[in-house]
Amino acid sequence: MRTPFVVGNWKLNKTIAEALALVTELKNQLGSVRGVAVGVAPVFTALHSVAKRLEGSSIATCAQDVFWESSGAFTGEVSAPLLADAGVTWAIVGHSERRQFFGDTNETVGKKARAALAAGLGAIVCVGEMLAERDAGRTLDIVDSQLAGGLVDIAGDVATQRLVIAYEPVWAIGTGRTATPAQAQEVHAHIRKRLTEQYGAQVAQAVRIQYGGSVKPSNAEALMSQPDIDGALVGGASLEASDFIAIVKAARPS
Ligand code: 13P
Repeated sequence: MRTPFVVGNWKLNKTIAEALALVTELKNQLGSVRGVAVGVAPVFTALHSVAKRLEGSSIATCAQDVFWESSGAFTGEVSAPLLADAGVTWAIVGHSERRQFFGDTNETVGKKARAALAAGLGAIVCVGEMLAERDAGRTLDIVDSQLAGGLVDIAGDVATQRLVIAYEPVWAIGTGRTATPAQAQEVHAHIRKRLTEQYGAQVAQAVRIQYGGSVKPSNAEALMSQPDIDGALVGGASLEASDFIAIVKAARPS
């Protein structure tokens, strides 16, 4: 029903040459994999070269962030139309590292998501609680407010086609401590319930919800076989072709 979507978020890693070496291997080795959508998110400086190298493959080139204005006096920013011009087809918005270190808020995440979608890109909207929030029993409240801000003014037909939610519990990112499949499924089901309230069941059933946070070849299948987990947003394990390929293969519907 929903095609799982596995994206490698490379974060601040890899030169252009290293990026090209990795995507060339992915292109060669994933050409025959069916039933899974795949993307990579390199740093801005490698996006254009990577998109060119991936031409003719089904692997999508994704940006790790996007600014909400199209052009103008915004030193240091990159807009959605310019990402599209570079060959990018998806943008990640609201990653917890952007929220923690660069001041992204629920409101600016919403602006970024709308800008990406308006430029014809897909938007991967990240949500997830911090450890203290989970321990205080506030996980679902936090996710609710992140969704409420992130999905302002996004129409149902656009959401169906090009909206992805990534649930990334902050305490599981880069820590080696992953959510259990049951913990992740609980939040994913809650997110789908919220999508159903906002858009109705048809749209909510179409939107893919990725899990992110220490996804590895050893835990990928157990996580992605949960009914509401539709792929993964992979950090560290996406930097090695063999690990990332194993995770993509684990996403195939059985
Ligand atoms: P890790 O897979 O390294 O935990 O990172 C997850 C993440 O933040 C993906 O966006």
